[in-house]
Formats: sequence, structure tokens, C-alpha cells
Amino acid sequence: MERDLDNRGGVSEQRLIADKSIELASGTRMPILGLGTWQARGRSAVSAVLRALEVGYRHIDTATAYGNEAQVGQAVAESGVPREDVFVTTKLPPSRAGRERATLEDSLDALGFGYVDLWLIHWPPSGRARPDVWERLLELQAEGLAREVGVSNYGVRQLDELERETGRLPAVNQIEWSPALFDRSVLEAHRRRGVQLEGYSPLKTVNLRDPQLGRIAEDHGVTPAQVVLRWHIEHRIVAIPKSTNAERIAENAAIFGFELTPSEVEQLDRFAGNRPVYVTNDRSPRS
Ligand code: A2P
Repeated sequence: MERDLDNRGGVSEQRLIADKSIELASGTRMPILGLGTWQARGRSAVSAVLRALEVGYRHIDTATAYGNEAQVGQAVAESGVPREDVFVTTKLPPSRAGRERATLEDSLDALGFGYVDLWLIHWPPSGRARPDVWERLLELQAEGLAREVGVSNYGVRQLDELERETGRLPAVNQIEWSPALFDRSVLEAHRRRGVQLEGYSPLKTVNLRDPQLGRIAEDHGVTPAQVVLRWHIEHRIVAIPKSTNAERIAENAAIFGFELTPSEVEQLDRFAGNRPVYVTNDRSPRS
């Protein structure tokens, strides 16, 4: 019965969420579950982040392009959770390539923070890896304005280009990811390089009404969304489901009181069929 309590987002679940993190190549710990905030604006963004912090999330994902950094910062301040206990990511819009310092300073002003935990290039500027931009991120990290730096929507070859030109790989690559987009070769390519894969749009990109998913959920007494998010955890992939709904924010975090069997993980892996999803990187990012 303790599991049922946990799955409703009880007190022990809160402790569990905060504890669950992965280690980045540098040794920094990153909570494996975060709240996505794309399209959350104004008071609804503040409420969503407050709710997330209340039910135990310690990781919030925002971006300059989302226009809600001020609300994220306000919620962290209002929550009473110490700033240093929350892992906050923001992102450089590619249109600001060349204005990296001013952009990060604007983000920090809006957030009301002295540093961000992770700063990403939101997607490859004009589809190019741009090692020169990556170099600026590394410089600003060295100044202490970002604890970790990384990229989003990059292909594996683009990661390699950054390393070839600068000698440094991103700590994280945030890409769209779900059972329907699963590609083992991409996951393994990130693992081999020591680049943490962070998945966005974990729920939107999969059919939550799929009968097979429904059966697995029923077997565990959880929802299909919780199964999908737990699948990310089993693969040690950071997941950042978005929600502005208080109940769903709690539901999405209540995924540490059950485990999927290896056979269930394999069934979900097969949702993508055999097609390679991330062969190139010229798709438009959705967030
Ligand atoms: P809402 O904000 O009303 O909860 P993704 O993170 O994959 O991009 O998905 C975000 C979308 O999925 C949002 O529209 C969000 O709506 C919805 N959503 C979030 N959590 C759940 C859930 N547990 N079950 C069903 N839909 C969800």
C-alpha cells in the first residue's frame, strides 16, 4: 500500500524524486526528472513551477524563447526551496549566436539568479554545429555563470564536430525522445561519448491510448503517462514532461514507486519499429 501512496505523490514520493539524479561527465548531479515549461506563461507558469517544487521536483527546464524565465525565477524564490537545491536549465536561442554573454546575462536577470545549472544552445544555428558559439558557452561556464553547458536538438555528428574543434563535448544533448522515437544506436552513441541524453516531449510524441501501453499501466496500477516516463528512467534518460495542471504535475513525478520489467522496457522500445529516427538533424525542433 505504500506504493499506492507514493504513486499519488505523497511525502515519501517527494523525498524519492529529489533523490533521483544522474551523474554528468564532470560529476555534477542532475535530477533525472524535471518539469518542462514550454508554452507556460504568466501566472500559470508560476503556479506550475510552485506546484512542481511542492511535490518534490528539483529540476525546471526553461529557455529564453519560452518567455517565462522571470516566472520560473519568481516561483523558485516564492517556494522557499533554496536556490542551490533546484537544477535550472535555460537555453540560448540560435538567433542570439554572437550575443551569448548578453543573452545569458538577460536570462540571469530574468531568473534573478547568479548562475544557471545548465545552459544549452537551443538548436543548431541555421542547422550548423557552430563550434564558435560552443566556445563562448564554455568561456561563460569557466566564469561561473553556468555550472554545466550543453546543446539541444544536435545530431551525433554535430556533437563530434564540437569536440573536434574545441576538445570539449557537451554535458547534455536535449532531444525529442519517447518510446515512439526510441533509437538504440543514438542512445548508445551518447553513452559512448559520455553525453547525457535528455528527452523532451516524452508524452506528446507517443499514443497514450495504445492498448499495449494500457495493459502495462494496468498491470502496475499506474497511468500510461507514468509508464512512458518510467521507461525513460529505466534507460537512465532525463525526462522533462510539461504540464501546467496541478494533478498531472504530481502524477508525472509519481514514477519512483514501481519498476518496469526488462521485457516491458523491450516492448516499449519496439514502439519505434526499426526505423532510425535521428539519422540527420534537420528536423525543426518543437520546443
Ligand atoms: P497539461 O499541461 O494540460 O497537463 P510533452 O511533455 O510530451 O510535450 O507533453 C505535454 C502535453 O501533455 C501537454 O499538453 C500536457 O497538458 C499533457 N500532459 C502532461 N502530463 C500528462 C499526463 N500525465 N497525462 C496526459 N497528458 C499529459
